[in-house]
Amino acid sequence: MTYLDNGATSFPKAPGVGAAVAAYLEHVGVNINRSTYGPANDAAMAVLDVRAALKELFAFPGRETHVLFTPGATWGLNQILRGFLRPGDHVLVSSLEHNAVMRPLTELAEAGITFTRIPADRQGITRPGDVAPLLRGNTRLILVSHASNVCGTVFPLEETAALCREKGIPLAVDAAQTAGHLPIDFGALGLAALCVPGHKGLLGPQGIGALLLREDFAAQLRPICTGGTGSASDSEVQPPYLPDRFESGTQNIPGILGLGRGAAFVKETGVPALERHERERTAQFLEGLKGLPVRLAGLPDIRGRVGVISLDFPQMDNAEAAYRLESEFGVLTRCGLHCAPSAHRTLGTFPQGTVRFSLGWANTPADVDAALIGIRSICGR
Ligand SMILES: Cc1ncc(COP(=O)(O)O)c(C=O)c1O
Repeated sequence: MTYLDNGATSFPKAPGVGAAVAAYLEHVGVNINRSTYGPANDAAMAVLDVRAALKELFAFPGRETHVLFTPGATWGLNQILRGFLRPGDHVLVSSLEHNAVMRPLTELAEAGITFTRIPADRQGITRPGDVAPLLRGNTRLILVSHASNVCGTVFPLEETAALCREKGIPLAVDAAQTAGHLPIDFGALGLAALCVPGHKGLLGPQGIGALLLREDFAAQLRPICTGGTGSASDSEVQPPYLPDRFESGTQNIPGILGLGRGAAFVKETGVPALERHERERTAQFLEGLKGLPVRLAGLPDIRGRVGVISLDFPQMDNAEAAYRLESEFGVLTRCGLHCAPSAHRTLGTFPQGTVRFSLGWANTPADVDAALIGIRSICGR
């Protein structure tokens, strides 16, 4: 099997992730921040270390307390949108957003919260100059996907971050497809919030993610879930301090420790080295597509993109193409709309969607060759 579905979730995970999860479940297993016996304290310290590792990985200038654990990127995005916006507010989002952003926003429209999509062209490119003219007096937030999960095109983050700093508008970033793939410097960008999944480029298990919050932004967020935190138990009011304010209930401790192992691997390997690896495989893939009768949705070379490659097969249904790639060549892809109809409308691949090949840290040149041989064959070449 050739696994090319790293955009959905990475596989294989980093070495030691499974062992870290298993060791906790089989040999420790306790809760944290509740009881005060030794193993509970040790586990709490191990969880703190993971916050510190994420703080370092994303050059987060705030305190570890503001590195929150979430069940994934979706939860963090919901926390930002539902916890920050008020009736009458306006939000700018990119044209390539995932439904983790668009579905909450569509729901929030009923509460009088409006949004505008920043336009992008048929390759998913947003011109930085197109953002400022869309700002309104009531624009309270800009939230963008760092790179599209459909075509891999990277959003002009530096320019937008500069605009946000100048105008004093919080910028929140969905780094679902870039955390662990591209360097992200929270402090230099001056972000308000960064949402990352633990199970994609950070190479951890499913069901864990992180939300990094600038202190002044966190102070304006209402938690979308409240409950027991193991702290201030004399009070029926949610504690004001972080991380407790946003981490009610028993946390996913095995997931956090697995994520810790994944993040440590990403740090040891180095994000620039992981990026280089992905660019080499992406370049090989894009080169091999030249002259084939498929439509590439997105950029034709490695500039301005990550290793998410979407193809529309004009001669057959994309579902059939994905099925044949798996059944005849053992190549695992994802076909359809990838939870991002807005991106497909932008790229001109709605409603048929695409077959998505998404590369990861463990993919070899032979993996890319396997995909190209399969694509050529089903195209009759
Ligand atoms: C761009 C983007 N945003 C958000 C998400 C949701 O992430 P999670 O599955 O961790 O909730 C994904 C996952 O596919 C994604 O690609």
